[in-house]
Amino acid sequence: MSTILEVKNLTIKFGGLVAVDDFNLDLEKGELVAVIGPNGAGKTTIFNMLTGIYRPTTGTIKLEGEDMVGLKPYQFAQRGITRTFQNIRLFANASVADNVKMAATMHAKDSLLQSFLRTPKMVENERELDEKVMDLLRRLNMADKADLLAKNLPYGDQRRLEIARALMTDPKILLLDEPVAGMITTELEEMAQLVVKIRKDFNVSIIMIEHHMNFVMPIADRIKVLDFGKTIAEGVPEVVQKDPKVIEAYLGGALNGNA
Ligand SMILES: Nc1ncnc2c1ncn2[C@@H]1O[C@H](COP(=O)(O)OP(=O)(O)OP(=O)(O)O)[C@@H](O)[C@H]1O
Ligand SMILES: [Mg+2]
Repeated sequence: MSTILEVKNLTIKFGGLVAVDDFNLDLEKGELVAVIGPNGAGKTTIFNMLTGIYRPTTGTIKLEGEDMVGLKPYQFAQRGITRTFQNIRLFANASVADNVKMAATMHAKDSLLQSFLRTPKMVENERELDEKVMDLLRRLNMADKADLLAKNLPYGDQRRLEIARALMTDPKILLLDEPVAGMITTELEEMAQLVVKIRKDFNVSIIMIEHHMNFVMPIADRIKVLDFGKTIAEGVPEVVQKDPKVIEAYLGGALNGNA
């Protein structure tokens, strides 16, 4: 395996608060790493730095050797890092298919003039885009819901749609921020299977933030545990699960089914 993402000494301060303190990660191609930790530990803030929304106070982010710090969010996306959000962000009154399609617009090749004229090239691009959307929806078992409005989907499907949108830009690295938050128990297993399938079928590396231990343990290659911005433990799930620091900070309650 080779390293796709190299994160070193990533630190961000908001006023006096060190929200993330010296976070390090070498993500291998095809790897699935989970980041866990209590509320406010700094998990989402890491994603905000890994997608160019926040610029780290110090530290480096290298994607396939390229220095990413200082690039804009769209440049992170263009280079292959995309994410989903903790709070679902969809176009509620647009169809499932259009939600996915719109995720690709930043890569659209058409000029404004072409789109007014509807040149043959434009029509061809549009057809290719529609095909890609349907192909993606089929692979995520959502093709039968293509015409439904996003707001009418059950919650679990809205999360799935968010992932479909993220995949539309052909990411190398997919960042999932609490993909099962708010889901009912029966939906958890389905989402776990989907994440495993996506990683294989789409050939992506995944970093996943989660609270649900039962969800993370069977599917993550490695787990990093954050508490108050600091990494307090990391390793394979079986080892992290037994780490006394982790149990004290977080897992004790969670493993007993309280999270
Ligand atoms: N833009 C900001 N300005 C000031 N403080 C911030 C900002 N963004 C995040 N923080 C603070 O950084 C800390 C980490 O927040 P973050 O959202 O990363 O936590 P989290 O681990 O994702 O928590 P949760 O599990 O609740 O989602 C919190 O104390 C938060 O209030
Ligand atoms: Mg968060």
